[in-house]
Amino acid sequence: MQTLNVALGERAYPIHIGRGLLGRADLILPHLKTQRVAIVTNEVVGPLYLERLRAGLEDAGVRTAAVVLPDGEAHKDWETLARIFDMLLAERCERSTTLVALGGGVVGDMGGFAAACYQRGMPFIQVPTTLLSQVDSSVGGKTAINHPLGKNMIGAFYQPRLVLADIDTLDTLPDRELSAGLAEVIKYGLIRDPGFLAWLELNLDRLMARDTDALAWAIERSCRNKAEVVAADETEQGERALLNLGHTFGHAIETGLGYGEWLHGEAVAAGTMMAAELSRRLGWIDAAAV
Ligand code: NAD
Ligand code: GLY
Repeated sequence: MQTLNVALGERAYPIHIGRGLLGRADLILPHLKTQRVAIVTNEVVGPLYLERLRAGLEDAGVRTAAVVLPDGEAHKDWETLARIFDMLLAERCERSTTLVALGGGVVGDMGGFAAACYQRGMPFIQVPTTLLSQVDSSVGGKTAINHPLGKNMIGAFYQPRLVLADIDTLDTLPDRELSAGLAEVIKYGLIRDPGFLAWLELNLDRLMARDTDALAWAIERSCRNKAEVVAADETEQGERALLNLGHTFGHAIETGLGYGEWLHGEAVAAGTMMAAELSRRLGWIDAAAV
């Protein structure tokens, strides 16, 4: 297991990356305020991984509740968010209960926003299960839901207390989702890590073949890059905007086509090409760079 740190002073937190972490309640317990946890997951991830996470916690004496949301970007909305609050209230969860988001970026973004709002803020842990969420969305505290008029338009900066990235969960991820996640991995190479970009150009086949060592290295290097940017500019006053490479076009694609038509990473990949082409037309970079 590798552990990185997101250096945010009193709100600093670890990112654990490795295999077999889902059942490791010992990694979660130090970050709980009380022995109560509310798990947010969805109808795809829940059947695969909820019991493993839950059993580890219950065996360690933690009382758990859970809500299983409908799957997909089209459900990253008010109605689905309200289902999280319904569960938290029905289970009489307190401000000291910890919300654990188990799933991809959609579950993580919605779970984090619910945690920011419930009783004006409850502790929150990210357990990301897609490549995209392990390298990007689980780190840095951006939480949100979509609005029909714009993606991620309603949300909050709200940092988790822990990110637990179990690489084993990627075994069940469809190839299309793996490719989409790679768009955000490549982004780090393009914006600030040329050595990583060169490594990616040599190792893309290994990553698509799910070579565990290659995946672990790419996730760690991506998280290291993200943690550094977030620590320098938590609320995107400047440098953090670099992480949005390709996202202006990408979000327009997602909103324009309807959420879920294109995967987020696919839209970011196309958006990155469009941003490069725009930069060329503005005379900022040459054709070779595009
Ligand atoms: P997602 O959460 O929709 O997950 C992709 C699909 O894979 C879903 O169908 C999901 O149920 C399924 N899935 C998840 N884990 C699985 C597993 N282990 N095995 C099999 N299936 C699994 O999409 P995503 O790509 O993870 O995240 C995209 C979202 O993240 C977008 O809403 C985007 O806006 C957001 N995002 C947020 C940030 C941030 O900083 N907060 C950064 C990047 C992206
Ligand atoms: N994914 C963009 C950010 O975290 O700032």
